[in-house]
Amino acid sequence: MQQISIAGGKVNPIGLGTLNMGEDLKNFDQEISAIRTGIDNGMQVIDTAEMYGSGKAETFVGEAIAPYNREELFLISKVLPSNASKRQLPKSLDDSLKRMNTDYLDLYLLHWPGPVPLQETVEALEKEKNKGKIKAWGVSNLDINDMNKLLQLSQGENCATNQVRYNIIDRGIEYDLMPKMDEYHMPMMSYAPVVRKKFSDKQNVLEQIAEKHQATIHQVLLAWNIRNKNTIAIPQSSKAEHVYDNSQAVNIELTKEDLEKIDEVYPKPTSSEPLALW
Ligand SMILES: NC(=O)c1ccc[n+]([C@@H]2O[C@H](COP(=O)([O-])OP(=O)(O)OC[C@H]3O[C@@H](n4cnc5c(N)ncnc54)[C@H](OP(=O)(O)O)[C@@H]3O)[C@@H](O)[C@H]2O)c1
Repeated sequence: MQQISIAGGKVNPIGLGTLNMGEDLKNFDQEISAIRTGIDNGMQVIDTAEMYGSGKAETFVGEAIAPYNREELFLISKVLPSNASKRQLPKSLDDSLKRMNTDYLDLYLLHWPGPVPLQETVEALEKEKNKGKIKAWGVSNLDINDMNKLLQLSQGENCATNQVRYNIIDRGIEYDLMPKMDEYHMPMMSYAPVVRKKFSDKQNVLEQIAEKHQATIHQVLLAWNIRNKNTIAIPQSSKAEHVYDNSQAVNIELTKEDLEKIDEVYPKPTSSEPLALW
């Protein structure tokens, strides 16, 4: 199985998003079953944030992972930009750890750039790494200019990933951000990899490719997302059957011809584009 090196370890390139999960008790059993189906089928990366449901998603993750060996999972949470100061970040992290019922995170991300100077946030993150509360830190929603600035900062090159919106429609990062991250051997983490919103497949290209691989369109979207072996995709689903399908997408190898057909309909960027956001 394909694995991606990140934060000193290796993980399955398809993980689990948790946006909107754990917020409504009536969906609790179904959502727990979705996450556990993913873990039972080899998924390791679980992405959450203090912002999601004001902590409810983190609490939900803590419950979902309770029966599993912590060491086999790769847990990510994110600090809000307004909490990313030297003073507040340690408290936010402790609260996240408590809600997730764990004593460390594999990766802690700055959710998006905000009012606190980036150098201060980097120092606060490094401090938590030295204490062992996080194995590594990274960022999210940094565009090419922000990333260039981060890489110039003291210890900025310790950034383990940048989590950004990336899918067949939002390909702008291929022009400049992705090559920059490659240069620093920094894996990409893509959110909204299956586009979230329903979209109509132009000219049925994905349908044809899916049929050829005896797969679903969502599986083709994920196989495409991780095709360059430098990306971790974190699709979210509250349905066990969808999570199972997502877990199997790691076994789909798209051909050169498949990729060319996709490029014709969903073209690569030819100039710098603003970062796509949620
Ligand atoms: N860093 C950031 O700023 C940021 C922003 C947004 C998201 N994220 C993270 O990235 C994760 C993923 O992004 P996202 O949730 O926005 O978008 P997404 O994963 O692209 O799309 C989620 C939607 O796709 C559906 N879906 C997933 N797998 C499917 C399948 N196999 N077949 C059919 N439908 C499927 C889900 O519905 P069903 O429940 O019906 O399957 C859900 O409505 C989030 O959960 C969050 O952890 C981060």
